[in-house]
Amino acid sequence: MFNLKRDSDCTQNLQSESPFNLSNSAEYLRYKDQKINQFLKLKDSLMVQVHDLANPTDSEKSEIRTRCRHTNMALYSTDKSVSREDIAKFASHFGLLTLDANPLSDDDGISSLQVSDSVQTREFIPYTNKAIQWHTDGYYNDMDHMVRSIILHCARQAESGGENEFFDHEILYILLRDRNPELIRALMDTDAMSIPPVFDKADQELRPERNGPVFSVSKHGCLHMRYTARTKSIAWKKSDMIHEALETLTAILKSDSEFKIRAQLFPGQGIICNNVLHNRNSFIDSETAQRLVYRARYFERISDT
Ligand SMILES: [Fe+2]
Repeated sequence: MFNLKRDSDCTQNLQSESPFNLSNSAEYLRYKDQKINQFLKLKDSLMVQVHDLANPTDSEKSEIRTRCRHTNMALYSTDKSVSREDIAKFASHFGLLTLDANPLSDDDGISSLQVSDSVQTREFIPYTNKAIQWHTDGYYNDMDHMVRSIILHCARQAESGGENEFFDHEILYILLRDRNPELIRALMDTDAMSIPPVFDKADQELRPERNGPVFSVSKHGCLHMRYTARTKSIAWKKSDMIHEALETLTAILKSDSEFKIRAQLFPGQGIICNNVLHNRNSFIDSETAQRLVYRARYFERISDT
């Protein structure tokens, strides 16, 4: 079976035995068969009940790992109250130790996603009640700092709306490759996607331009995806094949695909995943119901053991 280990870095490592090597159709077909079968078997039972989030039992951990191994994600639900520290402890049971903190994260490196009027956050969509388009987290990070896993934990629900959709990037890879392998070749180009530099008001560069592929394979053979459906602050390589790849990808994500996972997270529920594609519907808060979701991003992939 294809080996899914925890990764520590990310390079274009298309070894001949990799199912992601476009020249290895036999291995790809074996991988695809297993992946699709396992995904469809598990997709309606992604939720795992966890009694104590900070200290999941061996059986709870095994249930979560099985789902992550085959679908890159697991939903969880707990009835006990959950602190931010509990989320970090929960993550550590799956080898998630290094948070990708950013200037908008709180001191512990975890972000509190809620509607905010603060000057620092109000321009960023996650801190509004607007919809967030399909993306993977950290698509603007450099290749040595890929966000390989995330946890989203719902602490409070909005009055209405705020549902999420998730799409396993490995399934998306398969759907694109089966349409035309050249779409994958184009999306693996190291200059497929470029994020322009960011400057502050004094014209100081805060982040340099970042170029990279959409799909890449780590040294441990795991598939990673960088993507955003945003059209602002992103430049795609000007090629017919990239254009076709993006149109196909967009159509798949918009479709009523049997592979799409929809979830309304209730307080005490969350998702742990290998940074699969996700989006969020807009929502409406009220005096008594104000959405709060904790987000933790890690550089490690969910461990298999
Ligand atoms: Fe996200």
